[in-house]
Amino acid sequence: MWYQQPPTFAEVEANFTLPVFVKGSRQTSKHQAAASIIRSSEDFATALKIFKSDPILHWQDFVCRELLPLRPIAGGAKGKIPASYEFRTFWWRGELVGAGRYWFEAESYDWTNLERQEGLAVAKRAVDAVDCAFVVIDLAQTTEGRWVIIECNSGMESGYAGASPFAIWEAIARAETLDG
Ligand SMILES: Nc1ncnc2c1ncn2[C@@H]1O[C@H](COP(=O)(O)OP(=O)(O)O)[C@@H](O)[C@H]1O
Ligand SMILES: [Mg+2]
Repeated sequence: MWYQQPPTFAEVEANFTLPVFVKGSRQTSKHQAAASIIRSSEDFATALKIFKSDPILHWQDFVCRELLPLRPIAGGAKGKIPASYEFRTFWWRGELVGAGRYWFEAESYDWTNLERQEGLAVAKRAVDAVDCAFVVIDLAQTTEGRWVIIECNSGMESGYAGASPFAIWEAIARAETLDG
């Protein structure tokens, strides 16, 4: 749900069963857990207080989602959203040009060939739906092994995360040269 004004807790409860995940329509505040992970009305009050005063959050629209159980990974940083099994994928004109792990504040991890294949198939559905020349799809695996899209972003506005910048730009240059 996307709210132009932060909702009341009653409004959230009318549409969701707790727990929920809250963020700005553009982004979280540096993955701060207290501003995003809501398990009770007290958590919501705290998150709302942060939302209204935080320089990254206060001007954004307010987004509320179902909190999904994501497959955890070891490591992570105190006070931050727990790191999970997530990957950032880069797509140029509908073709994959790079992928890598999303979390750096955690121990290193890498997907198996099968996981990669299954995850990319889900990402590709988002790529086709968004239909944008340069798009980045972040995806995560749930504890049940299902792949879900976390967010879709402009390629020009995304950090590389664990993807290789050289490999990405080489793949794009190659695609453009062959197409041209
Ligand atoms: N619905 C959700 N359920 C569980 N965890 C989530 C959910 N949405 C986001 N997250 C977690 O929070 C992290 C940050 O959320 P994200 O939407 O990527 O915000 P940002 O734009 O600030 O990176 C994600 O990488 C993921 O680990
Ligand atoms: Mg993100």
